[in-house]
Amino acid sequence: MMQNNYYETLKQIQGLNEKASKHANKIAECMRYKDDNSYIPNIAGTNRVGPKGMKTLVEKTIYKEQEKLTEIYEKINELNKSVIEPVTENRAKLGGCRVHAIMNNKGGTGKSTITTSLAYTLSENGYKVLLIDTDSQASATQLLNIFDEDSEGNNLNTLDDLYEKMLNDIGNFDWEDIKNVIDDPNNKPRYYDYAREKRYLNFDLIPAGISMLINEVRLSRHNDGIYYLHTLIELIKKNRDYDFILIDCPPSLGTLSLNSLMAAESVIVPISLSVMVLRSTRNLIKTVSDIQALAMKQRNIKHKGILGMVKNEYTKNRRINISLNQIVDELFPIPCFDTAIPVRAACAQMEYSRMLFAQDKSIIREGFWQRLAQEIVDEDIRNRDLEPKIIDKVKWDGR
Ligand SMILES: Nc1ncnc2c1ncn2[C@@H]1O[C@H](COP(=O)(O)OP(=O)(O)OP(=O)(O)O)[C@@H](O)[C@H]1O
Ligand SMILES: [Mg+2]
Repeated sequence: MMQNNYYETLKQIQGLNEKASKHANKIAECMRYKDDNSYIPNIAGTNRVGPKGMKTLVEKTIYKEQEKLTEIYEKINELNKSVIEPVTENRAKLGGCRVHAIMNNKGGTGKSTITTSLAYTLSENGYKVLLIDTDSQASATQLLNIFDEDSEGNNLNTLDDLYEKMLNDIGNFDWEDIKNVIDDPNNKPRYYDYAREKRYLNFDLIPAGISMLINEVRLSRHNDGIYYLHTLIELIKKNRDYDFILIDCPPSLGTLSLNSLMAAESVIVPISLSVMVLRSTRNLIKTVSDIQALAMKQRNIKHKGILGMVKNEYTKNRRINISLNQIVDELFPIPCFDTAIPVRAACAQMEYSRMLFAQDKSIIREGFWQRLAQEIVDEDIRNRDLEPKIIDKVKWDGR
């Protein structure tokens, strides 16, 4: 079942919230005048009144704006009621937190774009989402407008610090350590609207540290080095009721990626239709099966393999796409989600606009992020009690 209506409703709520903040600002302006009569509030009509008239104007404005605010909040309440139910229903059907690694060892296939856009879209639908950035390039972290220092120049609290703590003293590592990172206000995903105002997004983040490569070497020397993220996520699941944890992976199959494979219940593989990408994806499919079989043997951790592939930067009309599409559809053992992500200028622009691809108004109207998010929820519900699919062969010989 598509939830387009809910998504539309959530957009309406967001719009109303923005309207409400404008009215609240006007009230704040009036209150400032009440504290200090020499201040000229930024409201309509101040140039037409003298000092006496100003007092009346301010009182009238407060009254009028408060009425508008009440009206808006009533509307928001009504709309909230209409969206809460279905998410609650789906949440029960999901049966707990679903953990996905967005992975392809080939660079630039759209992992960070897809992870951030899905986190946004799912959270806008009312799901509770945590994004974990495990790539030392920190692309997802930066797309969420968080950079390696906070506004005072202090270093951020990142996944790297958590790995460091675990490596130094796993016995004393607990939920409080993770909570300090997730709840750190400097780590709250944000965007900037057209007036260049900072606004917060509705999901949580464990940012990547840019020096994670050093701890990757330390992890690789450690006996249990590929299970640290698994331990960390198990602690999170015990303490917070997220519906989804999405892990953005680096373009490699090093220890950091192996950690993601062990930690994720299943994998989402972004692909673009190029021979190089399909070759590396062919190898990835086999690796995912091998590694997850190892986790089952060593730790009795049950994985569900690959949830699905997402065709990214998709253009229907290119002739080469027709034959590559055929390879994917007929010779790969993993189905693609029906929704493909088209090439859009809004995506490249997001690095400058400081908003997410999925937040762009024209992109929202196209609806592909919403459809993909819904397909993933549906697939997760369908897959919940399925045994993992063991994949031993990709039919395409890679030529
Ligand atoms: N659908 C799209 N339309 C247009 N540009 C896109 C699209 N998807 C991704 N891009 C662009 O391609 C580049 C790579 O995307 P992204 O960083 O998401 O890939 P990645 O797989 O995370 O890369 P890496 O392997 O380096 O982590 C970015 O500049 C992004 O803006
Ligand atoms: Mg990336």
